[in-house]
Amino acid sequence: ATTRHHEWEISYQLKSPDCVRKLAVTINGQSPGPTIRATQGDTIVVRVNNSLLTENAAIHWHGIRQIGTPWADGTEGVTQCPILPGDTFTYTFAVDRPGTYMYHAHYGMQRSAGLYGMIVVAAAPGGPDAEPFAYDGEHDVLLNDWWHDSTYEQAAGLASVPMRWVEEPQSLLINGRGRFNCSASAAAAAEEGTCNATLAECDAPVFDVVPGKTYRFRVGSLTSLCALNFEIEGHPMTVVEADGHYVKPFVVNNLNIYSGETYSVLIKADQDPNRNYWLASNVVSRKPGTPTGTAILSYAGGRSPPPTTPPAGPAWNDTMYRFRQSEATVAHPAHVEPPPPRANRTILLLNTQNKIDGRVRWALNNVSFKLPHTPYLVAMKRGLLGAFDQRPPPETYEYQSYNIYDPPPNPNATSSDGVYRLQFGSVVDVILQNANMLDANKSETHPWHLHGHDFWVLGYGIGRFDPKVHPATYNLKDPILKNTVAVHPYGWTALRFKADNPGVWAFHCHIEAHFFMGMGIVFEEGIERVAELPGEIMGCGKTKGGRH
Ligand code: C2O
Ligand code: CU
Repeated sequence: ATTRHHEWEISYQLKSPDCVRKLAVTINGQSPGPTIRATQGDTIVVRVNNSLLTENAAIHWHGIRQIGTPWADGTEGVTQCPILPGDTFTYTFAVDRPGTYMYHAHYGMQRSAGLYGMIVVAAAPGGPDAEPFAYDGEHDVLLNDWWHDSTYEQAAGLASVPMRWVEEPQSLLINGRGRFNCSASAAAAAEEGTCNATLAECDAPVFDVVPGKTYRFRVGSLTSLCALNFEIEGHPMTVVEADGHYVKPFVVNNLNIYSGETYSVLIKADQDPNRNYWLASNVVSRKPGTPTGTAILSYAGGRSPPPTTPPAGPAWNDTMYRFRQSEATVAHPAHVEPPPPRANRTILLLNTQNKIDGRVRWALNNVSFKLPHTPYLVAMKRGLLGAFDQRPPPETYEYQSYNIYDPPPNPNATSSDGVYRLQFGSVVDVILQNANMLDANKSETHPWHLHGHDFWVLGYGIGRFDPKVHPATYNLKDPILKNTVAVHPYGWTALRFKADNPGVWAFHCHIEAHFFMGMGIVFEEGIERVAELPGEIMGCGKTKGGRH
C-alpha cells in the first residue's frame, strides 16, 4: 500500500464550462478537480489550502467510509468546522475498497459552484476484490448540471419568502463541459458578452475507442438537482458496478443515474468504425428544461460530430422504467455479502415538503434538519451540552393514515438539529417513504446518501409502505450494497446497515437544494470508540479558542 499526497488550492476562477463565463470554485485552477487515482489499501493525503478569500470550504469523500477516521469525512457542521479563508486542512484517509467514488464540497451549496471530482480505486491485484469482468480500456465520465446564477443567488432565493426556486439548469456537463446555445433567443441575450461558443474550454469531451475492444466506463453523477439518463448511442451497456460494489451484470440501452451514484458499464466498440457516436445526458424525473448534454465517442480518432441527432433519452416521466432499473441492480453472485437477517431497529422516514415561518422546507416525519454551529463529532466527544438538540427525532409517522398522494394536510413543520443515536453494532433498517409535495399531483425522485457506510438495498415499492406486509418481500438473498439510493415518486425504499463505524454520519437527499432546505438527518454510533480528535477540525461554535 502506498501513501498518495495531493496538494490542493481552492480558488475562484472565471470559467466557461458551457461557453458562458462564470465564477467557479476550482481545485488547482480546474473544475472538475483532478481525479484521485489509487489502489485499494492506499492512504490518501489531501492538503487543502482555502484561497477563496471570503468563503469557507470543506470537502467530502463521497463513498469512502472513513473507518477509524470519522473526522476526515469533510462534512461541515457534522464532522468538522469549516476551513476558513487562508487556512489549510489536511484530510488523511484509507481507500479500503476498490471502485468508483467521488468528492465534492460539503459546505452550503458550494458543490454547485464547481468544487467536485472523481476518485478511482483499483482493486488490489490478485486480491479477493478483483473485478469479475474484463475490459481493454477505461474511461471516466462525471456528470453534472450547471446554472448561470451564483450559488449565493440560489441559496438566497431558496431561503426567501416567497421562495425563489433555482429552476432547471442552463446546461448539463460531461467532465465539466457543456454547450449553451449562445445564439438562441432571449436567454442568450441575457448572457451577452459572456457567451463565447468558440472557446476550446467548452468543446465536447472526446472518448477514444479502438474497434473491437471492450471499454469500462466509470460513470458518476454529482448533479445539484437533476436525475439523469446516460446513453452511448448505438452501444448497449452492461452494468457491472454500482457505488463500489459488483453488480450481477445486466444490459441496458441507457442508464438512469441519480446524484451521488456511480456505476461502471461495459461497452463493446462494435459499431460502424467510419463514424463517431454521441454520449448523451438527459434530464429525467423532472420535466426537462435543459438541452441534452453531449460528448463524442470517437472511432475515427477525430472529434467530428456524429451525423445523427443525440439520443433524447426515455420519457422523462416514465417512473416505472426507472423503478425497474433500480430493482435490477443486485449483487454479483460471486460477491454477495448477505445482510443480517433482521434489524434491531426500524426507522420510518416520511419525506415531505413543508413550510416553516412561510419558508418552504423539506422535512422527515415533520422535522426539518438544520446544521448546528458546533460539529456534532466534537460536541459529542467533548460532551459540549447545548451544542445541539438533545431530544431524539421521531422514529415514525402516522403510516396507517397518512395519504401520500395528497399535499400535506398541515404543511407546518418544525426544525431541529437532533440526532438519531444508534446502538453500536446494531442493525438498522430505514424506510424512506416519498409523498406528494406542497403542489397537488407532484412527487419527485430523491437520491438519499449515507455517509460512513454502505447499506443493503432491501426493496423498493410504489405507494404506501406497510410495515406488516412489505418486509416479507425484502431481498435478503443478493441485495446490492450502495451508499446512495433513489426513492422514486410516490414510492418507498427500504435499506439496512450495520451501525459499526464509530462516528457521526450525515444521511440526506443528495439534491443540493433539498439538503439546504432541511432534507437530512444525522446518525451517531460508537462515539466513545472514536480516537482523540485532531485539533484541526475545531475552532468554531462552542469549540472557539479550543483549537490550539
Ligand atoms: Cu455526496 Cu453528504 O454527500
Ligand atoms: Cu430530495
